[in-house]
Amino acid sequence: MGGLSNDSVSSRIARILTDAAEQLASIGAGNPRFEAELLLAQALDKPRVYLFAHPRAELTPAENSRFLALLERRLESVPIQYVMGSAQFRDLELNVAPGVLIPRPETELLVDYAWQALERRREKLQGGDSSMPGPWLIDVGVGSGAILLSMMQEERKRCGSSEGSWFQPLGIDLLPTPLTSTGNNAGKARLPRPALMRSDFLSAVTTDAPIAGILSNPPYVSASEMEALPVEIYEYEPHEALFGGVDGMSAIRILLDQAAPYFQQGAFFCCEIGGAQAELVREALDERNLWKWSQILPDLAGKPRVVLIEPDRDPLLP
Ligand SMILES: C[S@@+](CC[C@H](N)C(=O)[O-])C[C@H]1O[C@@H](n2cnc3c(N)ncnc32)[C@H](O)[C@@H]1O
Repeated sequence: MGGLSNDSVSSRIARILTDAAEQLASIGAGNPRFEAELLLAQALDKPRVYLFAHPRAELTPAENSRFLALLERRLESVPIQYVMGSAQFRDLELNVAPGVLIPRPETELLVDYAWQALERRREKLQGGDSSMPGPWLIDVGVGSGAILLSMMQEERKRCGSSEGSWFQPLGIDLLPTPLTSTGNNAGKARLPRPALMRSDFLSAVTTDAPIAGILSNPPYVSASEMEALPVEIYEYEPHEALFGGVDGMSAIRILLDQAAPYFQQGAFFCCEIGGAQAELVREALDERNLWKWSQILPDLAGKPRVVLIEPDRDPLLP
């Protein structure tokens, strides 16, 4: 009997991808074909390029059931990064699992702004006693470690892996799962394990050592924005990582208050904010007499998304 049975046709890679992409489109997946490829490559334990090179290859029953199990989770609207167990952030591939926020592309820009501020701070502080431990760089709400580990990675690029970092990285989170995640992701990226501390924002920080800077992507989603979140986020991502009180500003206000003593030492502060929060942030800065050292910086689309405070710079604005 010539030809192929329906079963064998539908277990070929090209056909599986087409069918899965259609199903993923029906749940509103952002890039259904790409996601189908990611899931299938993971089920086959092969790089994505294998799929393009072998469109007519058939799956074994074991491969097929692995793929269907992954696809089923994604069709329940579990975010693709949780299904895959990893997320890309700048040069890092970070493990992510429920309980840890999936790092977002917009946060990558915060790292650029923070790195520039850290370089300016380093120039100011250099000349100090090099036998003393370096100043702390603190990431409040460290999550998967996306921001802090990226800063450590930039530092490794700057000074090479042989030299130690000039700053001491410290990751803080309210919850234990993100702290474990950051520690594991440091190992995965072959970076030294940063100091990790469970704390309600900065409240447990007591240090005589200077602080170079404070970084944060805090929870800043307002009550009304929470109600409008897609199922994928609302149902699966930790609300502690998202909800920032009625106007989304609670965490930002607390951080500004708790950071006040460190501003007096010249520490910089670099913090992500919501796209509609610039006015509220400016008010909060004004109330604390911080606006003269502050900038609200845009993302690539021109939206104000990062507040940067640099108290050891000459006042930036009248
Ligand atoms: C928006 S997520 C940011 C995660 C990660 N830094 C990133 O950019 O992907 C906010 C993080 O703040 C943590 N968090 C929430 N409330 C906190 C608090 N009161 N003190 C410390 N961390 C807190 C959450 O657990 C979560 O990991």
